[in-house]
Amino acid sequence: MLEKDIERILVTEQEIKDICKRLGKQITEDYKHVDKPILLGLLKGCVPFMSDLAKEIDLKIEIEYMDVSSYHGNITSSGDVKIRKDMNTSVAGRDILIAEDIVDTGKTIDTIIKLLKHRGAKSVEVVTLLDKPEGRIIPFEPKYVGVTIPKAFVLGYGLDYDELYRNLPYVGILKQEIYKK
Ligand code: IMP
Repeated sequence: MLEKDIERILVTEQEIKDICKRLGKQITEDYKHVDKPILLGLLKGCVPFMSDLAKEIDLKIEIEYMDVSSYHGNITSSGDVKIRKDMNTSVAGRDILIAEDIVDTGKTIDTIIKLLKHRGAKSVEVVTLLDKPEGRIIPFEPKYVGVTIPKAFVLGYGLDYDELYRNLPYVGILKQEIYKK
């Protein structure tokens, strides 16, 4: 039923599985000497990716979630971001790996990195399933990237259009006529 709304598939289920395996292996290697890193998912888009990625990380990690929206993309005080859901633990002195579905303008990730550093995190890195570098407004290069995509609006596997299509098992592009409805 959902598939009839999709113009074309950009990243297949198999490609996503391979990405999670590759990134999980790399993260396992890079963090093997780090004490209990925190894998921090940004709601809601991170959920399928973070769940599959976490299973490929062969280390003791903690899992946390945040739901944050940025007003100015800049942290000078906590008043600059709206925290809809905060983490359940302190980040002071901790190594944080943020899991994102997509980095586009870079504003969201820039805001969260500044917030976590402001709170005393020891290190903050980013793993993203999709990277859309052509959309960047704030210069930023994620340490771990699943796949780089062109500047198009994509959905599925956590990414939504109007809160829908997050449950597609792949990443695709919506048919034009769906936007007009
Ligand atoms: P940024 O702050 O512009 O880097 O965008 C990050 C957030 O915007 C992502 O976590 C998504 O929720 C949303 N986003 C950016 N590009 C897309 C897209 O192509 N489809 C769906 N959501 C997107």
